[in-house]
Amino acid sequence: MAKQNLADKVVSLCKRRGFVYQSSEIYGGLSSTWDYGPLGIALKNNIADFWWREMTQLHENILGIDAAILMHPRVWEASGHVSGFVDPLVDCKQCKARFKAQDLVKTWRRKKKLEALGGDIPETAEGDMDELKKLRWPEATCPSCGTTGMLTAPRLFNLMLKTWLGPVEEAAALVYLRPETAQGIYVNYQNVVNTSRVKIPFGIAQIGKAFRNEITPGNFIFRTREFEQMEMQFFIKPGENPKWLEYWRDERFRFYVKLGIKPERLRIHRHAPEELAHYANDAFDIEYEFPFGWQELEGVHDRTNYDLSRHAEFSGKDLAYFDEETRERFVPYIVETSAGLNRTLFVCLLDAYDEDTQEGELRTVLRLIPSIAPIKVGVFSLVKKDGLPEVADHIAGDLRRLCPTFVDHQGSIGRRYRRMDEIGTPWGITVDYQTLQDQTVTLRDRDSLEQVRISTNVLSDEIRRRLAL
Ligand code: GAP
Repeated sequence: MAKQNLADKVVSLCKRRGFVYQSSEIYGGLSSTWDYGPLGIALKNNIADFWWREMTQLHENILGIDAAILMHPRVWEASGHVSGFVDPLVDCKQCKARFKAQDLVKTWRRKKKLEALGGDIPETAEGDMDELKKLRWPEATCPSCGTTGMLTAPRLFNLMLKTWLGPVEEAAALVYLRPETAQGIYVNYQNVVNTSRVKIPFGIAQIGKAFRNEITPGNFIFRTREFEQMEMQFFIKPGENPKWLEYWRDERFRFYVKLGIKPERLRIHRHAPEELAHYANDAFDIEYEFPFGWQELEGVHDRTNYDLSRHAEFSGKDLAYFDEETRERFVPYIVETSAGLNRTLFVCLLDAYDEDTQEGELRTVLRLIPSIAPIKVGVFSLVKKDGLPEVADHIAGDLRRLCPTFVDHQGSIGRRYRRMDEIGTPWGITVDYQTLQDQTVTLRDRDSLEQVRISTNVLSDEIRRRLAL
């Protein structure tokens, strides 16, 4: 399937079947903001649960927290986000378009127009601000309206969203919507140590919303201004950071394979020094081959003791850890795993999307792994009469206590199967006339299309077994 075609088909499926809607649609929508419908929230919750289980249940030394989105404004000074979480932007005074300076440099470099701009051209995509300033911006042409001489010099623009607490909008009441969930973990790390008696190495996990005033949001739910992160901060002894960085890079890669993502569409990219975020000493991205190219899905970062040292300095609190075994005191180093929940959901849909032909008809199927499928079982009565719907309702009622179950009595059986295949439901159960004779039903598998006859007595056990519960 052509790549753009795949993206279009997934976006259309999302809207048609109630995974994702445009936010505030009746008002024309708000750019790059999305709402999750009944199937979307089920899938999102299942992915979040899958991650939470992987992190907190399968690792005895990782605990969870849920910190507030609003934090003391000094947090963001200490974290370096007030000064460092910035993009140099260029405005066109003619058409009012706004560009990331480095994107323009990249475009111009591609078009070989750089000679005309003079100055020392930054070699990297990030582009150092001083280097960017040296370019002769007022002589350049706006890529949007084509006017020459109307571009401003680059100005720094902070990506944090702001709001005000209390009744007056004044500087003293300014707070930020967190741009990453990580800081809520750092400022709570000693609370967790004191109340849970964990010992280094240990991790703290959190899932929650983050906000960034992205200049170039887009590609559906790939980059938005409001999004969710699934982050885990792993606290370690100083010097053990290279070892743990590799450990978590590999663990996190394996996680996506467990989630059902095709390994050939995943790769690891190590950051070049100029790509590193202001807090990172070394970093790997786990990338996915999206229809629009290889892009970051998760970042695994060696943050050293940067964050805790800065919070100790800015808060005046001693944030050292006392190691009872070695009797040493030190500020822990941190290796972080930082995944986007919405981006992971997008990847699950793109990766699972498939089409085949069944009995001469095109079938769309989401090959999601059962544990994240929004609905696990569809129950159908072959015909809507002769007591079959009542039996199907009864079976569905039993199964519902075990897992999300959908019952449908309407339309041709083939069509009902296809509607469930399209939303990734792994199993279908059909009640027919034989059911009334011998209390057996057919159990159909979405992927193998195998149909087995099974007694209603053992149906729950069989679904439980297949769900590996
Ligand atoms: N605490 C480290 C941190 O936030 P990041 O690489 O900026 O690192 C981590 O973000 C992950 O969060 C990304 O890999 C991506 O999955 C997700 N993410 C970041 N910005 C996003 C955005 N604007 N929209 C959707 N997801 C985003």
